[in-house]
Amino acid sequence: MSNQSNPEFYEYLAKRRSASVLHEPKPSKNEIEKILAIAGTVPDHGNLRPYRFVVIEDTSRDKFGDSLVDAADAHRPEPLEDKVKAKIRAKAFAAPMQILIIYSPVASEKIHAWEQMAAASCTGFALVLGANTLGYGAVWKSFAYDPGPMLKGLVSLSNEEKILGWVNIGTEKGRDHAPREALPISDHVQFLNEK
Ligand SMILES: Cc1cc2nc3c(=O)[nH]c(=O)nc-3n(C[C@H](O)[C@H](O)[C@H](O)COP(=O)(O)O)c2cc1C
Repeated sequence: MSNQSNPEFYEYLAKRRSASVLHEPKPSKNEIEKILAIAGTVPDHGNLRPYRFVVIEDTSRDKFGDSLVDAADAHRPEPLEDKVKAKIRAKAFAAPMQILIIYSPVASEKIHAWEQMAAASCTGFALVLGANTLGYGAVWKSFAYDPGPMLKGLVSLSNEEKILGWVNIGTEKGRDHAPREALPISDHVQFLNEK
């Protein structure tokens, strides 16, 4: 594969867009496992697998929505208005399912925490790509307030673990994507040879 040119795959990667409005049907259990398998292919120094995932679907979205509201409540000085609570809770229902990404570092003298965080972060994109290749839309989401403490009871987070957001997955219906803007190479890349 790595020695073969694959223009279709290149075209897909170059034009990929996230999808924020997602509906049923969601991936089957088998498809969810396939998407997670792609997350397990990310570059990972020492193959430590410093990450884990929580699949949220159906009624577990209620608990997830409540924990987001509780997290916001805990951080805001004044009580949240009902309409604000409803808006926050709706994040859990923006798609038929979510995959929560948890950074879960492994004790290592050789492989620094930043490398492990980088590997765990790659899984977010891998989940999006995995979902796309099975025909589903996906988008990586996060929250302004750390939902970790609120989710502790639900997913047993250790003190070292950190939630890196979640990937919404579902079926896109009739959305035209704005064309992908190409990376302005001159602003973001330096070719040392040309200096
Ligand atoms: C860690 C992380 C968290 C994100 N959180 C949000 C979010 O909460 N809301 C949002 O609209 N986009 C969020 N994004 C950006 C989207 O995933 C997506 O990239 C963005 O909507 C642009 O769409 P595109 O991927 O088609 O360019 C996040 C991205 C990352 C990497």
